Amino acid sequence: MTPPLRSAAWFDGDDEVAVEHRAALGSLGIAVSPGDPRPVIGIAQSVSDLNPCNEGLRDLAEAVKEGVHAAGGIPLVFPTISLGEDLMKPTAMLYRNLMAMDVEETLRAHPIDGVVLLGNCDKTIPAQLMAAASADLPAIQVAGGSRPVAVFRGKPVGTGTDLWRHWDEYRAGRMSPEDWAAFERCLSCGPGACNTMGTASTMALLAESLGMSLPGTSSVPTGDPRARVGAERAGRRVVAMVREGLRPSAIMTSAAFDNAVTVLAAIGGSTNAVIHLCAIAGRLGLPLPLERFQELGRRVPVLADVSPSGRYLMDAFDRAGGLPVLLAEIAAHLDLRTATVTGGPLSDYVSSAGGSPRGAIRTLDSPVHERGGIAVLRGSLAPDGAVLKTSAASPALFRHRGPAIVFRGWDDLRRRLDDPELPLSADTVLVLTGCGPKAVPGMPEWGMIPIPARLAAAGVTDMVRISDGRMSGTSFGTCVLHVAPEAAAGGPLGLVQDGDMIELDVEAGLLHLDVPEAELDERRGRAEPFRTPHLRGWPRLYQDHVTQAPEGCDLDFLQAPTPEHRRFVEP
Ligand code: FES
Ligand code: MG
Repeated sequence: MTPPLRSAAWFDGDDEVAVEHRAALGSLGIAVSPGDPRPVIGIAQSVSDLNPCNEGLRDLAEAVKEGVHAAGGIPLVFPTISLGEDLMKPTAMLYRNLMAMDVEETLRAHPIDGVVLLGNCDKTIPAQLMAAASADLPAIQVAGGSRPVAVFRGKPVGTGTDLWRHWDEYRAGRMSPEDWAAFERCLSCGPGACNTMGTASTMALLAESLGMSLPGTSSVPTGDPRARVGAERAGRRVVAMVREGLRPSAIMTSAAFDNAVTVLAAIGGSTNAVIHLCAIAGRLGLPLPLERFQELGRRVPVLADVSPSGRYLMDAFDRAGGLPVLLAEIAAHLDLRTATVTGGPLSDYVSSAGGSPRGAIRTLDSPVHERGGIAVLRGSLAPDGAVLKTSAASPALFRHRGPAIVFRGWDDLRRRLDDPELPLSADTVLVLTGCGPKAVPGMPEWGMIPIPARLAAAGVTDMVRISDGRMSGTSFGTCVLHVAPEAAAGGPLGLVQDGDMIELDVEAGLLHLDVPEAELDERRGRAEPFRTPHLRGWPRLYQDHVTQAPEGCDLDFLQAPTPEHRRFVEP
């Protein structure tokens, strides 16, 4: 039986309030009558001139509208905050929860029965999925695709990854200022998300793995005609989902999160996805402990041969058949019974795979890396956990003991990293504190601490680096990230001093600060408490309520549904 429309609470009746609501749409040229059977479909549009990654979504909104009309719904596009990773300071992550609130509250306040979420750049898809989880209205995620691939000196340029590599070359004096300038010109290659396996590509693929996007759509490049076809289908399909009463809470189940965590390992995806998946699961009240990433991730090798873990870029992943081909290859490790936006199970995605692994998607017999992406570390330096993307790190450093050099915040790092007086060797463990969720605030992507110029010039390409920050999905290196609790929340990371010995053992899942407990207690007693310079506005609210990385860095009052929270979605 078709459930009653939520929008009927706005449009039915003949009182002055219903009349006002119908007249409002009438002013847009949309005639609505009491008892109108057409669902109202919101199209959450995150396009913005401030965010070139999301530019491709401009056309897709029109395609979604056509689909909604064709299926007998009423499409209404609404703008939301947009988060462009490249231009936002201190970090787009500070605003992910704000965008999630924006989308959720817009849905809450309006006569909307279902929604198509148009997102792309790193934080926009997680924010929209968090909102969809909380609002629990029928929803489909549509991604905007990755940008064209530029060529520099005959080689394809992977967004982010190649910038970091060339920056190291330039700082080490192996790249001329002229080449550096020529390389810059290559980076403006057109709209779309980073074409590496950055956070944006990772989250688009995970949205599809969760069953929240239509099969095969998550890797289609920006501007490809197939993107419009997928968007049109999403518009049609969401109308049917409203009639079926198919809500995100029935799709994003614990089994679906397990599937997404498994896919994250198989694609060698971004460490940021750990935080985002925890946040989305937190919105649904589903436990997703860090250990789950290790447990499930260990079962599958990395099969996506995409930078920074592999050789190709996202266009090649798409040509190889996209997510359905990858899902088919790891089907034995997935629960294929999970529900999806299609109305069918995830096994339908697998059967839609148009071929076997080739090119940028490898087989289980011939993986890119034997072991899936993300290791979880705990110990005296990270009592609540930390993560390491093993597929982008150096196995030679997986067991390491070395003396710390500590930088407190970004300014300190930039000022002293290349100081010739710093007592450094390749064994040094570089520690950066003060970049967790509460600090700064927003947990910026400072975790790939550059190799000090002196060592880079001597040929050192990787070192153990530890921080309470994040790193871009396009980054690489033996970077221990998301150390929790962060220094600003009183975590032991804030107590590390130059020369302290630190032990990393990836196999054992250990991150140990070799300083006696009594000494740490004494340091703790002397430590200055964290003081925020933010006295007002969003940063203040964020700092007062943000949770630590293992809980997804959501605001505490936005987590887990309560009976009250669900009331607004019921008509
Ligand atoms: Fe937007 Fe990478 S900066 S997708
Ligand atoms: Mg990024």
